[in-house]
Parts: sequence; structure tokens; C-alpha cells
Amino acid sequence: MLKLLLIFAFVVNSVLSDLCGNSSEYKCRCKRVPEPNTRLPVIVADCSDLNIDAFPSNVDNDINVLKLSVNDIEALDPNPSKIVSNDLQTLDLSYNKIASINDEFFLGIPNLRELDLSHNLITSLDDDSVFQNLNQLERLDLSFNKLQTLPDLLFMKLPNLKYLDLSYNPLGGFLTGSQDELKQKLRLSVNVTSLSLNGLNISNIPSTYFDDFNDLTYLSLADNSLDNIPAVPYSVEHLDMSGNNLTFVSARYLNYHSLKVLHLNRMPSLKEIHHYAFYNLVALEKLSITDCPNLKKFSDLAFDVASKNNHLHPKYLSLARNGLQKLNDTYKYFFRSMDHVDLTQNRWRCDCDILWLKEFEHVLYMPSEIRCFVPGEIKHKSILDLKEKDMPDCYPAIYGKKSHRILIIVLVSAVLVLIGLIFYLLRYPVNWLGSKNPIGPNSPYNLAATGE
Ligand SMILES: *[C@@H]1O[C@H](CO)[C@@H](O)[C@H](O)[C@H]1NC(C)=O
Ligand SMILES: *[C@@H]1O[C@H](CO)[C@@H](O)[C@H](O)[C@H]1NC(C)=O
Ligand SMILES: *[C@@H]1O[C@H](CO)[C@@H](O)[C@H](O)[C@H]1NC(C)=O
Ligand SMILES: *[C@@H]1O[C@H](CO)[C@@H](O)[C@H](O)[C@H]1NC(C)=O
Ligand SMILES: *[C@@H]1O[C@H](CO)[C@@H](O)[C@H](O)[C@H]1NC(C)=O
Repeated sequence: MLKLLLIFAFVVNSVLSDLCGNSSEYKCRCKRVPEPNTRLPVIVADCSDLNIDAFPSNVDNDINVLKLSVNDIEALDPNPSKIVSNDLQTLDLSYNKIASINDEFFLGIPNLRELDLSHNLITSLDDDSVFQNLNQLERLDLSFNKLQTLPDLLFMKLPNLKYLDLSYNPLGGFLTGSQDELKQKLRLSVNVTSLSLNGLNISNIPSTYFDDFNDLTYLSLADNSLDNIPAVPYSVEHLDMSGNNLTFVSARYLNYHSLKVLHLNRMPSLKEIHHYAFYNLVALEKLSITDCPNLKKFSDLAFDVASKNNHLHPKYLSLARNGLQKLNDTYKYFFRSMDHVDLTQNRWRCDCDILWLKEFEHVLYMPSEIRCFVPGEIKHKSILDLKEKDMPDCYPAIYGKKSHRILIIVLVSAVLVLIGLIFYLLRYPVNWLGSKNPIGPNSPYNLAATGE
């Protein structure tokens, strides 16, 4: 034990001398922390935001995680500084000004697992050897650069890649030029589990494009210009199609039995959710359709005939900031088993058909922010604050329905007239049969008497 402590003391001490501590050239913040998955201690050198303008000339061999994000590094060149370390597993170079990477730069770190090059100025990677020798690499982030093309066979040297992010590069035309650009041309491992292709200006994805990527569980295609949900592997559990050009959502494009999370946000083009659109998503847990101002109607049957439904069990539904006017009360069957429902900032029509929502206050996110849009008299009123007097038609028990009220008034008046008549008759009884003054010879109305 003591020996181990001594080793660590030595390790940390040696780290102190190169990158870490106030007396070093770089003044990085270094510490030993347990790695989240394995709980094994790793040494993290945090050199972020220190105005470093070139890759450090000497990186300690003992550092496992090197964070150099938010600096001013412009190039990754092996001369004068070439990184050499068998222990380095994570290298974060995000938010620098890197425009070029030399093919030999990564040669000396064969055990690297994670490489983050996002938010730089990389316009091109010269050839496929740039990632040579990184055959342990599992995560590669190239998002937010200026890449327009990628060299052929680029990913062939990365057989263990699981996570790839190419988002927000002008790569769309290049990436979807052929049926299987990713697999054949770039040789991306079919074992990737997570792929982010956001903001690439992709307008069309061929139907066989993701064939063979049967381990893919996370796929994000947000902020492209796709008209429809493309064919994706059946293994996908998390799909983000936000910010595309969808006009409707239909079951035809959604038959993924593993899909748990579906995002369809930020689409002004989206107008309709078809009946049974989500019927086939038997694993669906979380559905988010927000910020679609032209989505006015959410089908009565988007999932299923609610009262009969027993095969869908979504837990989370967000329909915030759309143009919705009403939601059919059959959704109460779903809301009963949900944890979170967000219906805020829509154009709700407050009539009798919306009152059922009030009983789901406990499930609704910020229920006091679900406000009426029409009718005008109660605009902005929270549905929770709707009182009987705001919508008398909806409380027949108290106010009666309008038609009932008229009927009641008529009936009550009729009864009152009758009661009055009865009183009158009791007070001034008329002897219809044997009157004291029958019309006869002695009656003042006697015709004979008048003629007297
Ligand atoms: C390093 O310097 C900073 C300020 O310059 C100070 O706050 C910090 O305590 C110093 N750390 C050590 C270990 O001396
Ligand atoms: C993908 O993973 C399987 C095992 O899960 C393995 O047999 C196969 O060799 C891997 N393929 C590649 C290209 O790494
Ligand atoms: C997006 O792609 C289209 C062609 O599909 C092209 O005309 C357009 O200029 C591209 N937009 C951007 C911002 O690259
Ligand atoms: C979106 O789709 C509509 C019709 O479906 C089309 O007119 C429009 O050009 C598309 N917009 C983009 C950015 O692709
Ligand atoms: C709710 O949906 C069902 C099934 O489509 C329909 O029969 C019913 O009229 C709807 N209710 C309202 C208030 O629109």
C-alpha cells in the first residue's frame, strides 16, 4: 500500500514538473480522479483556457487525460513538438484555431481512445494516414470545422471507432454523393454505435445508406434539409430529426421497434401528424415535437385508439411551442402512465373539450403556463384558472347547458302559471256544475230580465 502511495506521489510529482502546477511553464490544473466507468484512478491535466498557442513541447508520459480546449493552437505539427505517450487516452483540442494536422502528429499516442477536434478551423485532412496508429480510438469528434471533403479510406485505420461526430461541416454534398459513402468510400466501421451528422445540408439520404450499420443506436440528423425520415437501421434507439424540412409525420417512415427517443423539433414546415404515426414505435419512451409553429393539430389517434392501447407506453411527451389548438381527451389514457407532459405555449382553444387537462396537473410541466389563446375574452388565462363562470356551457350541473336553460325557463314559467291558476281557483271557486247564480230566470244575466 505504502509502495503504491509512493508510486502515486512520484507520478503526480513528475507531472508537476512538466505541465502542472504554478511553477511549470503551462500552469495546468492537474489532479488524479477515478475514471467514471472503471473507477481506476486517472491523471487529468486540465490546460484549458490558458492562452496556449502551440501544442506543448513535452507532455508527460503519465497523463491519461489532456485537456487543451479553448486555446490558440493553430496547427498540429510534429516539429518541434510531437506527442509521445503510451498512457494518453483522451485528448481534447476543441475550441482552438487548428487549421492543419500533420499526418504524423498522432503517431506517438497509440492508446488514444477519445479525440476531440471540434470547433476548430480544419478545412481538409490531407490523406487517410492522419489517423494511422490510432487503432484503439473509440470516439472522434470533428464537428464544427470547415471540412468539405474527407479523404478516401479515412476511417479504415480506426477499426474500433464507436462514436463519430461530423456535424456542422459543409460536408453534405460530399457525404451523400453515393449509395454507401460511409462504408465503401470512407470505410467507417460498421460497428459504430453513435453517429452525428447534424447541420451538413443533407437533402437526400439513399435508402441503403445505413445498411449494415446494425449496431447503430444513436443517430442524429438534425438541421439538414431532409423532406422525410430516411431509412435507418432497426437498431436505432435515439433518433433526432429536428430542424429538417418535414411537412408531415406518418407511420410509413416510422417502423422502428427499438426506437426509444424521437426528436422532431424546430420545423416550421411541419403541419400534420398522421393517424397512427407512432403506432409501430413499441419501445418509445420519449417523444418531443416542439417549436413547430404551423403544427395546429395533433391527431386524435397519433399513437393508437387510446382506450384500447396496451402496446405503447411513452413516459415523456413534449409538445411545447407549437400551434396546437386542441388535444383530444382520449390522451388521458396515455397521460395516466406518463411522468412528464409539456403542453406550454400553444394556441389552445379554451372550450369544454380542454377541461379534461385540469385533472392532470401532477403530470403536466408548468401547468399554469398552459394558457388559452381563444376565445378572446379569456385569452392568456391559464387553463388551471378556468372557472365555471368563464365557460358556463361546460357546467350543466351548475348552469345547465344553453338549450337546457331555455327549456328550464319555459318549464318553470309554465309551472308558475299553473300554480297561480290553482291558487286563483281555490280562492274564487267557480261552481261549474251547480252554481249559486246559474244562468236562469233569477240570474242578473237572465236574458228575460234584461228584456224587462
Ligand atoms: C497557483 O496560483 C494561483 C493564483 O495565481 C493560486 O490561487 C493558487 O493557490 C496557486 N496554487 C498553488 C498550488 O500554489
Ligand atoms: C464488429 O464487432 C464484432 C463483434 O461484436 C466483431 O466480430 C467484428 O469483427 C467487428 N467488426 C469490425 C469491422 O470491427
Ligand atoms: C445546400 O445544398 C444545396 C444543394 O443541395 C446548395 O445549393 C446550397 O448552396 C447548400 N447550402 C449551403 C449553406 O451549403
Ligand atoms: C422544403 O419542402 C418544400 C416542399 O415540401 C420545398 O418547397 C422547399 O424548397 C423545401 N425547403 C428546403 C430548404 O429544402
Ligand atoms: C376524440 O377522438 C375521437 C376518435 O377520433 C372522436 O370520436 C371524438 O369525437 C374526438 N373528440 C373531440 C372532442 O374531438
